[in-house]
Amino acid sequence: MAKAIVTHLPEGVSVPAHIGIIMDGNGRWAKKRGMPRKVGHREGAKNFRAITRYAKALGVKYITYYAFSTENWKRPKDEVDAIMDLFEKYLDEVRDFIEENIRVRFIGDRSMLSETLQRKMKGVEEDSKDFDSMTLVLAINYGGRDDICHSVRQIVAMACRGEITESDVTEELIEKNLYTEEIPPADLIIRPSGEQRLSNFLIWQSAYAEFYYTNILWPDFRGKDLEDAIMAFNNRNRRYGGIDTK
Ligand code: FPP
Repeated sequence: MAKAIVTHLPEGVSVPAHIGIIMDGNGRWAKKRGMPRKVGHREGAKNFRAITRYAKALGVKYITYYAFSTENWKRPKDEVDAIMDLFEKYLDEVRDFIEENIRVRFIGDRSMLSETLQRKMKGVEEDSKDFDSMTLVLAINYGGRDDICHSVRQIVAMACRGEITESDVTEELIEKNLYTEEIPPADLIIRPSGEQRLSNFLIWQSAYAEFYYTNILWPDFRGKDLEDAIMAFNNRNRRYGGIDTK
């Protein structure tokens, strides 16, 4: 049985319902140690498990990780293969999350992934669909622009079938047809490793998210760092385009 996690957030701190994480800095982590980049990805993949457990202990309801972007195919083949292997290996282990009552979902275009991966992804989603302690979302071959195109294509198809007309195209309809479907918008996006950009991650879903950047490389990012991000989130003033009413 996994060791119980002791968290350290002070009483009364509000925990964001949906946190998105860009797992950046794996390559630099490995380079600093004179190791191949894929070792950094292996450490990064290990850390994603630890942080997911920590987030669950904190009461986070949705956590989305950017594991592989639509642009990451540009990397050398052996690096792409290493990431896909890690993903496949961890897909088998993700079954542990099922025992932890964690629902697992994938977002992104699966058609370019191997049939084995696609089958395993479907199986994990199916087996975990009724679990409700937390939803773990893995973005694989995901791009925010591609997500919006995917939604628009579905809406155009509905229009061609005569099911909707122009006035039915609302933000809600676009949202319902994104890969994220029923997953709520992101509240907090965390990007480690010192880069300060979204890199095509959840662009629609993070319209009102708070952003948190840190220089720590992803394999070194710990539960305490997640708590620091949540504390920073608590000091932000989310107005959603309105004004202060306090
Ligand atoms: C970004 O760091 C990281 C990636 C593009 C891949 C992340 C993939 C994993 C952690 C492994 C597979 C995922 C799971 C969930 C098992 P980078 O390579 O851009 O780092 P750098 O900027 O330091 O070069």
